[in-house]
Amino acid sequence: MAGSGHVPATGDAAAGWRQGVTAPGVYADLQAQRACWHPVAYSGEVGDTPAHAELLGESLVLWRGPGGEPRAMSDLCVHRGTALSLGRVSGDEIVCPYHGWRYGADGRCVAIPQLEDPARVPAQARVPAFKVQERYGLIWVALQEARWPLPEVPELEDDSWAVVSAGPYRWQSDAARQVENFTDFGHFPWVHPGLLGDPARPVVPRHEVRTDGHVLRYSIVRPEAANTDDFPVFGNEQATPPERRSRYELHLPYTITLRLDWGGQRGMVYLFAAQPVAANRCAGYVVIGRNYNFGQSDQVIQEFENTIFGQDQVVVESQRPDRVPFDLAAELHLKFDAVAVAYRKAMRALGLAADLSCPDPIGQ
Ligand code: FES
Ligand code: CO
Repeated sequence: MAGSGHVPATGDAAAGWRQGVTAPGVYADLQAQRACWHPVAYSGEVGDTPAHAELLGESLVLWRGPGGEPRAMSDLCVHRGTALSLGRVSGDEIVCPYHGWRYGADGRCVAIPQLEDPARVPAQARVPAFKVQERYGLIWVALQEARWPLPEVPELEDDSWAVVSAGPYRWQSDAARQVENFTDFGHFPWVHPGLLGDPARPVVPRHEVRTDGHVLRYSIVRPEAANTDDFPVFGNEQATPPERRSRYELHLPYTITLRLDWGGQRGMVYLFAAQPVAANRCAGYVVIGRNYNFGQSDQVIQEFENTIFGQDQVVVESQRPDRVPFDLAAELHLKFDAVAVAYRKAMRALGLAADLSCPDPIGQ
């Protein structure tokens, strides 16, 4: 973590404070977020062998059925707590590496090899199985029945658009800090000079945020730095200074769609989704579509995103608390922070953030 010289104290209490664990206040409620879809892996990360993932402090095993269907279950064998992700897939069953118990897609144990009749499985021999879907090149999991569907991004399912993914960007912060950073207009010229902003034009243009249930909508016309020779990724064509139109949808809690255009036919769409790994850890997935520059190698956009997210990571990991404090009195908001204000209000209004000063059962 760069430059933690601003942390004044030492000792256990200070360590807790640095982690944000002991800070009283209103924070993302991990329990409430079990009823939301979250990304847990890129599709390509889950193949023939099981994969491990973490979501909201819960260990998951991800695997695929015989037709490639994604499966998500608790990564904890009910027998002795072994990680099922160390085991193997056999047909539509996952086999524990320790004693070979076999589990079906619904989490029920179907065979215990140590028994004379391996099929005589006690009813309590099962592990939780979770809702899972695969879309936009990502595996999404909801630990409980999801309150809202995934956002619609037809461009990413349209063969006439080129799609590339970047990340995941694993940060030591909560997912809300990563989301707010993605939506933060004021930082572009400071953190990404020459790439996403022009230090000579730091004023944030006027924008208004509309809140429709769990979706925040806003757009902005923003001066941006011209394409650089290093990263010629954007579709602006020689306007001086270039202007980028950005239309955002923030789907609570942690998924954003961003559509960019430069006043012509060229368009770009970003799907950004932060995985709430634990109370103060996240992973950001970025799926980018474009309808121009088809010949460009994926690497150009990926290296651009790696640079941008790397610049952001240093700043965001220094923020204290390491979780967004959803109480509006907790940080200083000015007019150009309208998105953060609307986000914090909506997260509280929908019960996705709550006063967690009292310890809760999932160990925040
Ligand atoms: Fe999984 Fe024994 S720990 S079968
Ligand atoms: Co940034």
